[in-house]
Amino acid sequence: MTASSEIYEVARRKLIFALDVGTIAEADELITLLGDSVGMFKVGKQLFMSSGPPVIEHVKERGSEVFLDLKFHDIPRTVARAAMEATRLGVSIFNLHASGSAAMMREAVRSVDRVCRTEKLERPRMLAVTVLTSIDASDLRAIGVDGELDDQVVRLALLARDSGMDGVVASPREIAAIREACGRDFIVLTPGIRPAGSDKGDQKRTAGPADAIRRGADYVVVGRPIRDAGDPRAAARQIVEEIVEGLS
Ligand code: C5P
Repeated sequence: MTASSEIYEVARRKLIFALDVGTIAEADELITLLGDSVGMFKVGKQLFMSSGPPVIEHVKERGSEVFLDLKFHDIPRTVARAAMEATRLGVSIFNLHASGSAAMMREAVRSVDRVCRTEKLERPRMLAVTVLTSIDASDLRAIGVDGELDDQVVRLALLARDSGMDGVVASPREIAAIREACGRDFIVLTPGIRPAGSDKGDQKRTAGPADAIRRGADYVVVGRPIRDAGDPRAAARQIVEEIVEGLS
């Protein structure tokens, strides 16, 4: 491998494509198209509700890793049980809401560690959602959270780290503050990525791929800018090139 193909491979592995479709057949078409252009596929609520656990098996059979994006938020015991099942499904990453409390995150971490030990399973990385990228300061005020949005993100990131989580989901704009507070080894995964010229959709706190990586993101999640492009494979490759730029 040459140095440039090596860095391209590092960049590719950082790109997670959101399989935001309603059927396994549609997901399958996208996996065929993008399997060698992205690093991982994200299965979210729509696809999981329509197709269930078999879709995860399917993505893995096609040779790709899965980020299960169900954003668990419930009482500690319920979330811990769901986290154990996600682990048994063999996903590489799954997430829950940091606002569900330290007790909820700690119990999930403990349960996942235990099931990995007793059933000899691979440990998924567990990420906590801080503040959704579709939310802005006025939305936050409306649900009773006063103060700066960035402070709320960092507060939740620290709570997640201190509860044993591996990292967080946050908008590109807060990466630097999270890095500073939580250190280099804490994973930061960021949606809300919009390459130059693409539509923001319902995302409010966005950045380009190179910029997100420069600020210290470990992974970027991209959905519509790839899926809705005239040539999704070219769009994915363009984003990987932008990640390369951000790395160098
Ligand atoms: O289409 P788009 O690129 O906006 O897709 C972003 C994906 O990331 C969506 O599947 C969305 O559910 C997810 N996501 C998000 N904000 C978070 C966590 C996940 O937009 N905080």
